[in-house]
Amino acid sequence: MSIQPVSKELDSNGPFLQNVVMQFIDLQRQQEQISDSVRRNIAEVLEHGKYINGPEVPLLEKEMEGLLQGEVHAIACGNGTDAIQVACMALGLQPGDEVITTPLSFMATVEVPVLLHLKVVFIEVDPETGNLDPAGLEAAITPRTKLILPVSLYGRCANYTKIVDIAAQHGIPVLEDGAESFGAKHRGRLSCTMTDLATTSFFPAKPLGCYGDGGMVFVRKTAIAGPSDTGALAAGIRRICRHGQRARYRHTEIGVNSRLDTLQAAILLAKLEVLETEHRKKQEIARHYCDALRGKIGLMETQNDDESAHGYFPILVEHRDAMLRALETAQIPYSLHFPCLHTQTAISGKDIDLGYREGDFPIAERIAREVITIPMHAYLTEAETEQVISCILQNS
Ligand SMILES: Cc1ncc(COP(=O)(O)O)c(C=O)c1O
Repeated sequence: MSIQPVSKELDSNGPFLQNVVMQFIDLQRQQEQISDSVRRNIAEVLEHGKYINGPEVPLLEKEMEGLLQGEVHAIACGNGTDAIQVACMALGLQPGDEVITTPLSFMATVEVPVLLHLKVVFIEVDPETGNLDPAGLEAAITPRTKLILPVSLYGRCANYTKIVDIAAQHGIPVLEDGAESFGAKHRGRLSCTMTDLATTSFFPAKPLGCYGDGGMVFVRKTAIAGPSDTGALAAGIRRICRHGQRARYRHTEIGVNSRLDTLQAAILLAKLEVLETEHRKKQEIARHYCDALRGKIGLMETQNDDESAHGYFPILVEHRDAMLRALETAQIPYSLHFPCLHTQTAISGKDIDLGYREGDFPIAERIAREVITIPMHAYLTEAETEQVISCILQNS
């Protein structure tokens, strides 16, 4: 039986094109590598039948803590959006508290503070990375600032050295939205270990993705500016994910229902087998793209010993439409990550208006106008990479 996606726009392989010559992110080729482990792990879940909170979930949490060098407590949850929400809830943020974040991200980053009635304060992004620019941070901090929420956009860490330093001077915790960056490094340190709290998403197309929705919250064991009892904070997050239950049917706070399905944990355990190899392969492909395209179009190359997880590979093209048409003609999939948040109707319309308008963040707006994300995954062949490069070069 062949099942078509309900909407082309919701297809994780990218928009618009019917007969692509390669995949934007190739989950099929990845599955072929790990098929035996995936099937074995799924069969074990079917065997024990513990579909909710089965043993694979804590096992995955343990594995993830190990991957993050024992520096964090890991709490699995339903998706990367919930991960931000339960972290904010566990911090005890109150309506009106200010959260400083970036206008260049996926909607989830801003949706959570808005849902929790927090005040969203956007600041401009760094032109080199598209990430929250620490240069604007100090001026945006007020006595009501209770959280700084940078995003590691496209898989590349923000400058956490500077962000955490400034935040710590003001006693404000930082939460890294690491939905796109699991495996990335900033100055040799791993994404999701540098801030008091971090979150990631296991959406299928993410650097570590499952076969449905999933997410995780990480609490740094050594607090920087967050609550000093990090074990209690992690336990609070775990409770909130389970309807605020301290024990079965004893609800001591308002929570949500946000769990990682056992089957998804089982799939993720299989995917961990190829995570490092995929990460290395993506570094090679990125180097190849950069060497071939440097000077011809805009690139957001990593500096020093930073490593992107290459959740996406962005290029910047001033006259973007012509390049999009060329990619479409060549049947090369692409996407546009992301339009700016501050101009989204949901938060600048008649029901909710955060007060931001087009023109407020010229750097973020220019990136949003010029960005094209091109195919990037560990299973791109050399011929496919060359096809992408030659299409871009012919049209730049
Ligand atoms: C930067 C960012 N934050 C949060 C999310 C939300 O993750 P999820 O789709 O798992 O809820 C995403 C997912 O696309 C994302 O890219």
